[in-house]
Amino acid sequence: MIQLAPAADAPRHWLMGPAYYAQRDPLTWIPRWAEKYGDVFTIGSPIGSATVVASPELARQVLADRYSHYIEKGRSYAVLRILMGNGLVTSSGEFWRGQRKLTQPAFHRRRLDAIFAMMVERSRHFAEELVEAREPVDISPLFSQLTLEIISRAMFSTDVDASAGSVGRHVATLNETALRMLRQPWRFFLPRTFPTPFTKTEFHARATLDAIVHGIIDRRRQGGEDHDDLLSMFLSACDEETGRGMTNEQLRDEVMTMFVAGHETTANAMCWLLHLIATHPEIEAKLLDEITAAGDALDTGSLAAYPYTRRVVEESLRLYPTIWSVGRRCTKEDELGGFHIRPGTTLLIPIFHFHWGERWWDEPRKFDPDRFLPDRRPSPEIYFPFGAGPRTCIGNQFALQELVIMIVVFLRRMRFQPVAGFPVEPDALITLRPKHGMKLAVEGR
Ligand code: HEM
Repeated sequence: MIQLAPAADAPRHWLMGPAYYAQRDPLTWIPRWAEKYGDVFTIGSPIGSATVVASPELARQVLADRYSHYIEKGRSYAVLRILMGNGLVTSSGEFWRGQRKLTQPAFHRRRLDAIFAMMVERSRHFAEELVEAREPVDISPLFSQLTLEIISRAMFSTDVDASAGSVGRHVATLNETALRMLRQPWRFFLPRTFPTPFTKTEFHARATLDAIVHGIIDRRRQGGEDHDDLLSMFLSACDEETGRGMTNEQLRDEVMTMFVAGHETTANAMCWLLHLIATHPEIEAKLLDEITAAGDALDTGSLAAYPYTRRVVEESLRLYPTIWSVGRRCTKEDELGGFHIRPGTTLLIPIFHFHWGERWWDEPRKFDPDRFLPDRRPSPEIYFPFGAGPRTCIGNQFALQELVIMIVVFLRRMRFQPVAGFPVEPDALITLRPKHGMKLAVEGR
């Protein structure tokens, strides 16, 4: 087996080495390095190197086939712990397995049917507000608010009304903390209690959120009735063997995990979707044909009437995979493509690279929803916006349902148009988000 060596002649920052470039602009540098150094290469930095797995076959090996060699998440997930605690996204091993078993039933088809009407109603409400806009609007904060409201209601049903605004504000503050840490990694070396104006805001946000979430959990435990929402499912879930359910701390972490994992991803996906639709009038026309043909129908039974909309969503997640990469830590010695992988190695799996590479796609930069026609569907090896293997996104069907509903509701009511000169550029931080927001002109129909 070949020993891994850092890519020696990659451009280097005087302090951070090549990692500086990987961090600032991974969308450019990873494909470039993959072409130069091959399917497995290491990016060095003084605070620890990362090995990029740039071949889809080897990525599948890490995520699925040899999952037991890579059961821990990578270093970057430490940032997510600030937001989510030790929930499904950040935990590992047996603890994760137990939590996944307990939370999985909350995402069954029947549960998604139960929140369908709420998703439609909330989207209509936001569409009515947006259609009033006289000037071009940055839709990015609007969709963050809408998707946060949808996940909050899916989680807490009516309990969320009183605290919805404050939950949104505090989740946004914690999100901002995580982004700062990613942009300024030296912050990792400051003790978490180091007093700065920002840490004060962060601690206040965390304490308030904890109080809101624990308050709702306590009331639910005392009341004992079933509210037919995600929290009720989490509260009633118990391990078949031990008969044990989740503690209040576990519940808090899973609730925060769903808040964070379940809104920013979908909000960004919506921004990219509307950008693509606004800049491709021929695709917008086809969408409108489908939406008009379906009449007023938008309920659980009528989702099948929107196959083209679904293809547009899937193609948009190919061009803009909002989770652009996933990370793992090797826990058992392995070999990847002839390279020796030691325990402790941090691996980076660049999902976007497999979605964009000319090696795997014809005209990869073209927005072509028909790639997802039933007889042409791409292999899950090169297309996996929701991850792969045992840790695949638990909310994938939730997200797809939500995105199709939002597209149908918003396009029925209004037309989106690009704003000349407004820069549209992806920024690969935790999620792939529009760097300058997403300003679009809106016109009612
Ligand atoms: C377009 C929207 C979304 C995208 C692109 C997306 C993508 C992903 C990806 C790639 C992973 C795997 C991470 C890894 O392997 O390290 C993941 C995990 C996860 N996602 Fe999503 N996600 C989306 C929406 C959602 C929603 C709506 C929810 C919740 C309602 C959610 C909850 C989760 C959770 C809890 C995990 C961790 C699963 C586990 O490790 O067991 N996601 N997501």
